[in-house]
Amino acid sequence: MKLRSGDQRQICTLMLRFLALVLSGILGARALNNGLAKTPTMGWLHWERFMCNLNCQEEPDSCISEQLFMQMAELMVSDGWKDVGYKYLCIDDCWMAPQRDSEDRLQADPQRFPGGIRRLANYVHSKGLKLGIYADVGNKTCAGFPGSFGHYDLDAQTFADWGVDLLKFDGCYCDSIKHLENGYKYMSLALNRTGRSIVYSCEWPFYLRPFHKPNYTAIRQYCNHWRNFADVSDSWQSIKSILDWTSSNQEKIVDVAGPGGWNDPDMLVIGNFGLSWDQQVTQMALWAIMAAPLLMSNDLRQISPEAKALLQNKDVIAINQDPLGKQGYRLRKEENIELWERPLSNLAWAIAVRNLQEIGGPCFYTIAIVSLGHGVACNPGCFITQLLPMKRELGFYEWTSSLKTKINPTGTVLLRLEAAGMLQKN
Ligand code: GLA
Repeated sequence: MKLRSGDQRQICTLMLRFLALVLSGILGARALNNGLAKTPTMGWLHWERFMCNLNCQEEPDSCISEQLFMQMAELMVSDGWKDVGYKYLCIDDCWMAPQRDSEDRLQADPQRFPGGIRRLANYVHSKGLKLGIYADVGNKTCAGFPGSFGHYDLDAQTFADWGVDLLKFDGCYCDSIKHLENGYKYMSLALNRTGRSIVYSCEWPFYLRPFHKPNYTAIRQYCNHWRNFADVSDSWQSIKSILDWTSSNQEKIVDVAGPGGWNDPDMLVIGNFGLSWDQQVTQMALWAIMAAPLLMSNDLRQISPEAKALLQNKDVIAINQDPLGKQGYRLRKEENIELWERPLSNLAWAIAVRNLQEIGGPCFYTIAIVSLGHGVACNPGCFITQLLPMKRELGFYEWTSSLKTKINPTGTVLLRLEAAGMLQKN
């Protein structure tokens, strides 16, 4: 059979497209090759809620001690956190003794961690959880404990020997940019050489940015997630500043994220003191859209049923953990409304509508369905479910239709769009 020139052109175009796909797979941002963090890490991290509380005499229940982590481990299992995916129980700064031991190894403070980290790791593993630990690329940790500079191999091996499963590597007290960058790279390789699977959580771009534009292609090759921006605190101002930074820099950071490597906008502070209900909804919804690690920093011994239900919302977690692994982005901003979207597997999309207003009552915003997901999210039609602030099946929508949403001040409405042809029939 002879091909017509039109057919030939079409075949050529298809082949070129295929080649481009293969090449972008090969040449596209490569992730750290440790097989970990295929979806964003989920767990608990002590810093925002418990900080550097060393006073176990007067505050035994909130000082940084093995007791705190053992209690959290128990609750992560008994209260359903582990079942919905929160598996990494992570220690932040201030676990160490002020000095290394006689063989130069880091050691846990003997009063606060009498059993040492290895025993704590065993305990955490016996619960089916994983243990995270903290160290610093520089001469000291941010709180002034021994830094890893000059000891990267030894520290990586020590953590592996203890059975640690994640390392948060901070960037305080570096003498130079070279020290910072080489240190982050070296530690990644050192962790790999131990042969133990250890998720590597970096703050490299955050510390680099004041001096130098971060090279995310390199960062992704060495880290499983990386902080870009300042520490989260328990306030609406802090959550807003993280979201503002992320949307203003989305051209640089969104495409870098994917299975194995994620942008880290810092901890979830849901369940603490500083955010209203609507603001907590906004943090949960947007952390799902941003494919962010979900590391809660709260007190699982005292958490409201509402905050617990929000953090354990399976539909929202499914968006965060979507296997396609594409980070969402801000689609548009109109006066007091922001529309964010995230492509999901099976041609589904997540849409978040934020009301930026901090005055008045709920506002109404009508979305032209055709404007979503590059015009294809709902073509020719889709089923829409509102997931937050409350679950509601909204039904079938045609491509040309529109959807009216109602959003509380500082709150967010999170939607899931399911391509009509993709729904399984029961
Ligand atoms: C830095 C980090 C925080 C926390 C503290 C601990 O500020 O960004 O997340 O780890 O150090 O000292």
